[in-house]
Amino acid sequence: MPARELKITPIKNGTVIDHISNGLALEVLRIIGAQTLDKDSTVSVALHVRSNKIGWKDIVKVENMELSPRKVNAIALIAPTATISIIRDYQVREKRSVDLPERIVGVVRCPNGNCISNQSEPIESEFEVTSRRPVILTCVYCERELDDFRPHLA
Ligand SMILES: Nc1ncnc2c1ncn2[C@@H]1O[C@H](COP(=O)(O)OP(=O)(O)OP(=O)(O)O)[C@@H](O)[C@H]1O
Ligand SMILES: [Mg+2]
Ligand SMILES: [Zn+2]
Repeated sequence: MPARELKITPIKNGTVIDHISNGLALEVLRIIGAQTLDKDSTVSVALHVRSNKIGWKDIVKVENMELSPRKVNAIALIAPTATISIIRDYQVREKRSVDLPERIVGVVRCPNGNCISNQSEPIESEFEVTSRRPVILTCVYCERELDDFRPHLA
């Protein structure tokens, strides 16, 4: 690792979310639910770090945690440039880009109060990604379109 990337203490085991578009690390932390992590896990956040690839970026490093597919999908929605690395015994074991799936299940709440996904517990929200740039989500139940989904992240 280049020295300028060592602003954050290395972690033994955990997850690194790198190349987050500048300013979105706090949203990513909210998705991870940093408050739910066990008390021995360090969470490091670097805001406004120089990046060769994307100008400026944010980085989040979380000890002793691996992300559920659902959380990866939520991160892909708000930070499509992010990469996720799994660290085991200080080494990068796996690194991949996040990937926006065709359907988003259970991550975004439908803004339509009358939508069936808001009525009864067993029905989870489900959106089809009907546009990628910019991202537009369409509810598969009521067809409500959503372009600003950030306030609706579940
Ligand atoms: N032990 C560790 N503790 C914390 N972060 C780590 C550790 N090892 C690697 N990283 C971080 O994990 C990410 C992936 O590591 P890697 O060395 O593959 O990155 P890199 O060479 O900077 O490549 P790129 O930036 O293209 O993903 C980087 O953000 C790096 O800073
Ligand atoms: Mg790098
Ligand atoms: Zn709906």
